[in-house]
Amino acid sequence: MTRTVVITGATSGIGQALAQRYAAPGIVLGLIGRDPERLGRIADDARQRGAVIVTGAIDVRDRVAMQTWLRNLDRDHSIDLVIANAGVMEGTPPGGTIEPADAAYDLMQTNVLGVMNTVQPILDAMVTRGRGQVAIMSSIAAFIPLADSPSYCASKSAVLSYGLSLRALLARQGIRVSVICPGYIETPMMLRENGPKPFKMSAERAAELIATGLERDKAVISFPAFFAWMTWLNGILPDGLRRQLSRSFRFTVSPWG
Ligand SMILES: NC(=O)c1ccc[n+]([C@@H]2O[C@H](COP(=O)([O-])OP(=O)(O)OC[C@H]3O[C@@H](n4cnc5c(N)ncnc54)[C@H](OP(=O)(O)O)[C@@H]3O)[C@@H](O)[C@H]2O)c1
Repeated sequence: MTRTVVITGATSGIGQALAQRYAAPGIVLGLIGRDPERLGRIADDARQRGAVIVTGAIDVRDRVAMQTWLRNLDRDHSIDLVIANAGVMEGTPPGGTIEPADAAYDLMQTNVLGVMNTVQPILDAMVTRGRGQVAIMSSIAAFIPLADSPSYCASKSAVLSYGLSLRALLARQGIRVSVICPGYIETPMMLRENGPKPFKMSAERAAELIATGLERDKAVISFPAFFAWMTWLNGILPDGLRRQLSRSFRFTVSPWG
C-alpha cells in the first residue's frame, strides 16, 4: 500500500531533511518549494531512494495555485500526511533597531497564510475519508515573545494556536494534527541569525524527531526537550521578570546573501 506525504519548503533545511527521511519505496512524495533547480535536485535524490515524486515550484502565499496543486495531487494519490513546513525568519538587522516592515509583512503571509494555504484545501477530503494527518511547523519562538523578532514570534504563536484548534476540532473525525516547535536547527535560515544558539541540532536529527513525534500523534512536537521546557517556562513569567532574564538574549538577523 502506498502512502502520500506532502512537504512544503522541501528545497532547504528541515524540509529537505524531511524529504530525505520520508523518501522510500511505497511513498509518493509531494514536494513544494520556490526554487525549481534545488527542487529538481532534491526530487532526484528522493527518487533514487525509491519514492515516487511529484513537485510543485509554488509560492505558498499563492492560495489558488496551492489549492489547485494539492487537490490535483489528492485526486491522483490521496494525501495521508501534509507537513506545512515552509517559512521565513526576520528580525532586527545588524546595526538596526527594528525588523524591516516589508519583510515583516511578507513573513506573516508566508508563515501564517502559507500554512493555511497548505492545510485548508485538503481538510474536506480528509474528513470525507475519515483519516489523514496534518503537521504544522511552528517554533519554540511561539512560547516566548523575543524582542528581536516580533513578526516571527507572532507568526509561530498564530500557527501553534491554529494547529491545536484544528486538532481539537478534527480528532473525532479521524484527523490527527500536530504542531512542531523546534529550537535551533542548523539550516541556512539559522545561519542568518547572529546571536546565542543554545542546544542547536542538525536538520537530519530534527527530521527524525519530527517523524517519531508524528508516528506517536503528539499534539506538540518540541525539541530539544530541556530547551523547549525552559523557553516555555520563561514565556509564562510575569513580563518584568521575563524581560529582565532575557536581557542578554539579543540577536540580529542578516539579510539573505
Ligand atoms: N532553523 C531553525 O532553527 C528553525 C527553528 C524553528 C522553526 N523553524 C521553522 O522550520 C521551517 C523551515 O526552516 P529552515 O530552518 O529549514 O529554513 P530554510 O533552510 O531557510 O528553508 C526554508 C524553506 O521554506 C521555503 N519557503 C520559504 N518561503 C516560501 C514561500 N513563500 N513559498 C514556498 N516555499 C517557501 C524555502 O524554499 P525556497 O527557497 O525554494 O523558496 C525553503 O525550502 C520554517 O517554518 C522555520 O520557521 C526553523
